[in-house]
Amino acid sequence: MDVLQVNFVGSSDGEWNVTTIHTLCGETLAPVAAISRFVDSAPMLQLDDWMLRSFTSNLRYTTASEARRLAERQQGLGRPASAHAALIPIRKTADWWALPQDERRAIYEERSRHTSIGMDYLPRIARKLHHCRDLGEPFDFLTWFEFAPEDSAAFDELVGRLRETEEWDYIDREIDIRLVHAG
Ligand code: HEM
Repeated sequence: MDVLQVNFVGSSDGEWNVTTIHTLCGETLAPVAAISRFVDSAPMLQLDDWMLRSFTSNLRYTTASEARRLAERQQGLGRPASAHAALIPIRKTADWWALPQDERRAIYEERSRHTSIGMDYLPRIARKLHHCRDLGEPFDFLTWFEFAPEDSAAFDELVGRLRETEEWDYIDREIDIRLVHAG
């Protein structure tokens, strides 16, 4: 698979206008009016902008049959109807990272049903997972979602269900940023 470098820039204007920033836990981010997602390109930063760096990567917790079902159902980013988006940067705890891979998978799917829950919302919600722990960034993941305005309530339900799971006990920084396409 291709590894893409993906940079998110918070600025005074950009591709997506910020509607709300909700800090669920941990330190917040400086408020900005807009966020842009740059794939394999280096953005020019203005004073007071912030940038979060990340990259796409291979799957860690997905079985072959789950990968097939995801591929059958999910749709890509950039659909014309996807006027709404969410950027949710997440950091997991030291306790999570100290667990062996099989115990993390058991929490993630066998007990928390992350992929199973998420599958209920495909193809309405388009998603992309970006990794940044290995870059020494302030978050471990930058999660990105795009959906039509009429699916906003479904997205709220999805994040509500995930945040009740055991997996979320291992999250100590989470900021839910909602966006509307500026175009
Ligand atoms: C649209 C529905 C969703 C689906 C189908 C889905 C599916 C997945 C899958 C398959 C993975 C595992 C990737 C791998 O094997 O490494 C994953 C990881 C992840 N997802 Fe979701 N997800 C959804 C929604 C969400 C939401 C709403 C959030 C945040 C609020 C989220 C946060 C994460 C995080 C942080 C990871 C990385 C977990 C880790 O590696 O420890 N997901 N998701």
